[in-house]
Amino acid sequence: MRYLILSDMHGNADAFGAVLDRTADEDFDVTLVLGDLVGYGASPNRIVEQVQGLRGKVLVVRGNHDKVVAGIDSGEYFNQAARAAADWTTAALSTENLKYVLELPQGPVSVHAGLAICHGSPLDEDAYVFSEVDAFEIFRRHKVPVTFFGHTHVPSIFSIHENRIQVLALRSDGSMRLDPETRYLVNPGSIGQPRDRNPLAAYMTYDEAERTVHWFRVEYPIELAQARIVKAGLPSLLAERLSLGI
Ligand SMILES: [Fe+2]
Repeated sequence: MRYLILSDMHGNADAFGAVLDRTADEDFDVTLVLGDLVGYGASPNRIVEQVQGLRGKVLVVRGNHDKVVAGIDSGEYFNQAARAAADWTTAALSTENLKYVLELPQGPVSVHAGLAICHGSPLDEDAYVFSEVDAFEIFRRHKVPVTFFGHTHVPSIFSIHENRIQVLALRSDGSMRLDPETRYLVNPGSIGQPRDRNPLAAYMTYDEAERTVHWFRVEYPIELAQARIVKAGLPSLLAERLSLGI
């Protein structure tokens, strides 16, 4: 099985389009979408259509921004810019696309016994996994060998083998073979709003037969996404951060 792993598009259809163009000639059995399709960026309808247009089997979980946009969560913990973007997105989405976002499934979702996906943590869809302390608690209670997650917008691989945790920050294109005796929490990074000081859109692929994860960064017309944000009247810092990768 070959998987394409996409996360945190955040209404940035220019970034998502570049990732889809880059992967268009490859065959994937399943596409895994880790949530936060919308929120922050100015093209939420286009993102929903791009996800619906993905070929083959597609598994999607909802993100915290999807929940706030759909009215499932109040977003009281959001900062002002995130809150403004969520309200704007709710108003901008078509009735059908808002219904699609509202009905996105809660993670974790099991792909099969050895593979799961979630937005934040498999224990709590809204929790952030930044540190080995966060990861240790998950590994203690969640026994699935490989779990892909999003939410932090930081490409990374956490692993545990005989109670020893390792954290890898993924800084450029690369690959890693997964050890069958080790368990993994893998974050592909964000397509629409990277936060590891690299503004390029991030995504992953996973070849299950080879047990190999590949991570990639893709250039896209950032200035177009920024112009759309400004034109939509969204907070300008949401445009500025895209070229900084923060
Ligand atoms: Fe996100």
